[in-house]
Amino acid sequence: MAKTKTFLCSACGASSTKWSGRCEACGEWNTISEEKPLSSGPASKSLGARRGHAVPLTDLSAEEAPPPRAMAGIDELDRVLGGGLVPGSAILVGGDPGIGKSTLLLQAAAAFARQGLKTVYVSGEEASAQVRMRARRLDLADAPVQLAAETNLRDILTTLEAEKPQLVIIDSIQTMWADNVDSAPGSVTQVRATAHELTTFAKRHNVSVIMVGHVTKDGQIAGPRVVEHMVDTVLYFEGERGHQFRILRAVKNRFGPADEIGVFEMTGGGLAEVTNPSALFLSERGQPSAGSVVFAGIEGTRPVLVEFQALVAPSPLSQPRRTVVGWDGGRLAMILAVLEARCGIPFAGLDVYLNVAGGMKIGEPAADLAVAAALLSAREDAPLPAETVVFGEISLSGALRPTPQTENRLKEARKLGFTAAIAPAGGKTGSGGGLSLTRPTDLIGFVGEVFGAG
Ligand code: TYD
Ligand code: MG
Repeated sequence: MAKTKTFLCSACGASSTKWSGRCEACGEWNTISEEKPLSSGPASKSLGARRGHAVPLTDLSAEEAPPPRAMAGIDELDRVLGGGLVPGSAILVGGDPGIGKSTLLLQAAAAFARQGLKTVYVSGEEASAQVRMRARRLDLADAPVQLAAETNLRDILTTLEAEKPQLVIIDSIQTMWADNVDSAPGSVTQVRATAHELTTFAKRHNVSVIMVGHVTKDGQIAGPRVVEHMVDTVLYFEGERGHQFRILRAVKNRFGPADEIGVFEMTGGGLAEVTNPSALFLSERGQPSAGSVVFAGIEGTRPVLVEFQALVAPSPLSQPRRTVVGWDGGRLAMILAVLEARCGIPFAGLDVYLNVAGGMKIGEPAADLAVAAALLSAREDAPLPAETVVFGEISLSGALRPTPQTENRLKEARKLGFTAAIAPAGGKTGSGGGLSLTRPTDLIGFVGEVFGAG
């Protein structure tokens, strides 16, 4: 049989039979490289899996108690996991290098171990001495966590089968290699193979496995995206280097709500929980100024208040700048188009900058109205009324759509000392949280009420 070459994209994992500069599946440039093919199925070479046994089949109606979950006692982590750790689950924690993944997972390992879970921490990046040093610094040295510095997956699995832990942490998946796969550690093929082995191991032995995956932009090391389909839960650990805040975000969770976030602060003594993120994100806010608007958002099950900042200035460029940090650029273009088409407020010839304060990333459409308010306020150089929160989704027709969980948003705003809110008409407000409400039905009404008809 003639061997055909396989080329894999390190960003999305798509395979093709020829090299090209741009991946046809995900559109990324320079991410395609030649890979040795995966071993063809569960041959005798595969690590551990025996073949040919009949599997027992069960009915859908079979009774099963909900899985007992283990709590770390770190609320921000337990909530993101969907209410604790499910036994036998495979979890991927992705994030940029240096963001604090190892710190978070060492703290998690220690917390689970102190709750009585038998925990093993396998580091492929650092020597045991380094991990111990960090543990001492974090004041976790007394936690009953077992350490190993190893990258050979076969040895790791053999050890785990003997030790029978309940929780295994693999830091990181890019450093692991399976000796039955003829490819360098960190390549798509290796990452996929090792993640698959570990996930299967988790299911078969009812051991929770948490894997760390680095995300790199240049595509040299395989992103953990290819692994996302295999695991039960995908968490992203994000944050700006210049900021202290770190956000653990669930993007996929078979055992709980996705979109849940946990907020941490990186301190000299490790990651500290932030139990009131709204207060933190608004802490840098000064006097009301033009272009600054507080958005009452919902992240998962929790309301979170953040500040949108906009700057609008005459542009020297023929193509004015549109720069966004923390929000979607396409969505900004849409809001600008709606403002122009439905309200007759042009932004042509003006540079537009939009920023979410504190390094937070917002994905909710309910932020539309807050963004529109920030843009108008910046353009007109007119601050919004003090102590006001804004939220609401804008449709292309210029109508405002009511947002889910209006009541929770208002309650959170009230709790943080806000006195007024601008929200779309319709939608349950309950008592309004005691705030004075402005409830426009469309964008024109909003502009008229907030900025005067002019
Ligand atoms: P680390 O967990 O090693 O990141 P990752 O595993 O994601 O690559 O964290 C690295 C950064 O965290 C490093 O720049 C120093 C900082 N840090 C603190 O600020 N305080 C601490 O207590 C620790 C352990 C790390
Ligand atoms: Mg690390």
